[in-house]
Amino acid sequence: MGVLENKRILLIVPGGIAAYKSLELARQLRGAGARVRAILTEAGAKFVTPLSLGAITGEKVYSDLFSLTDENEMGHIRLAREADLVVVSPATADILAKMVQGLASDLATTALLATDKPVLVAPAMNVRMWEHAATRANMETLVGRGIMVVGPGEGDLACGEEGVGRLAEVDDILAAIVGFFAARAPLRGRRAIVTSGPTFEPVDPVRFIGNRSSGKQGHAIAAALADLGARTTLISGPVAEPDPAGVQITRIETALEMRAAVKQALPADVAVMVAAVADWRVKAPAAEKIKKGGPGVRRLDLVENPDILAEISRPGNARPALVIGFAADTEDVVANGEAKRKAKGCDWILANDVSEGSGVFGGSDNTVHLIRPDGTEDWPAMAKPAVAARLAEAIASHFTDAP
Ligand code: CTP
Repeated sequence: MGVLENKRILLIVPGGIAAYKSLELARQLRGAGARVRAILTEAGAKFVTPLSLGAITGEKVYSDLFSLTDENEMGHIRLAREADLVVVSPATADILAKMVQGLASDLATTALLATDKPVLVAPAMNVRMWEHAATRANMETLVGRGIMVVGPGEGDLACGEEGVGRLAEVDDILAAIVGFFAARAPLRGRRAIVTSGPTFEPVDPVRFIGNRSSGKQGHAIAAALADLGARTTLISGPVAEPDPAGVQITRIETALEMRAAVKQALPADVAVMVAAVADWRVKAPAAEKIKKGGPGVRRLDLVENPDILAEISRPGNARPALVIGFAADTEDVVANGEAKRKAKGCDWILANDVSEGSGVFGGSDNTVHLIRPDGTEDWPAMAKPAVAARLAEAIASHFTDAP
């Protein structure tokens, strides 16, 4: 596995003589496992062709803000956000100034304005341009906004002068990118198990007992843990959610299958049980479809399913160091959550209100309370991916702070 496996990089190539080096950068990024999408500006296309950049990235190269085809395939907002990191190389004086001003005059600058992702720039320009008070002030502003900078280096410049302004070596740009992801991966080397979605308990070959869990929250948590570097196994019931990137997924239908999959995924450092597991299953599902008028249709004989969260929380060698459960309740959410934490023996509970009108089941927002042995945090209503990111950060801090 490459060090940048599953990382998505949006590479913006403006027009500068060093643009040709972006081909080598793209090649090395892909070699390290990253997925690279490129935006080539009009000026950039004077130095490298969309064809060569496309061949190296293995993806369509984007350049025209107003191309309807491009907009149909992918809006510029999506292009700007479906990345883990945006890299501008070579960052010309012109694009740096546009970034400072917040101009959106072409696809590259629009993506830079629209992105909510970290941005790394590799400046390259003539030494006078680099040393000009305007560029100095622009760099100060960009650094102040949290933009990362690699280079420029010193030496012979394409214009014949000598000094600071050379694009950083491709190896150094790559090292900066790898370093950025490593710093953001506090859970590297840790293993995580996440359960998600509902379970379906068969009644007969076509019917089942299920529930309305969408898997949105569980899938987002698996993605957030993987994002922080954890080797994550997601065990999911039937859901319509797409598979999160960078996660190993095991699909199951019943609670018994989920329990077996969890056991198989052990050992793990952290387990987050988000699935809405059916409490009951039909004792003897019919082998053939039950007919409307046939016998035995009025009653379903149910048996209790194993409590997977309680089982994995039991002390023993295989117990993950941190076990987190979910408590979905309609009243006394925190008190019931705390009682559930103790009853099930898990370490933390994320308690949420699923009463009618909360819109949690299948909805995109969640209001949760993080219940830990030393107290409860009430989190504001957040989108489910934001809840996931905050939980993943809390898990990472737990392991970083643990002796
Ligand atoms: N859970 C589990 N296995 C089960 C039932 C629940 O792993 N058979 C886990 C869920 O994934 C969740 C937590 O237990 O993390 C709480 O589930 P919940 O349905 O709220 O609680 P119940 O145990 O069903 O209790 P009650 O029905 O009394 O609310």
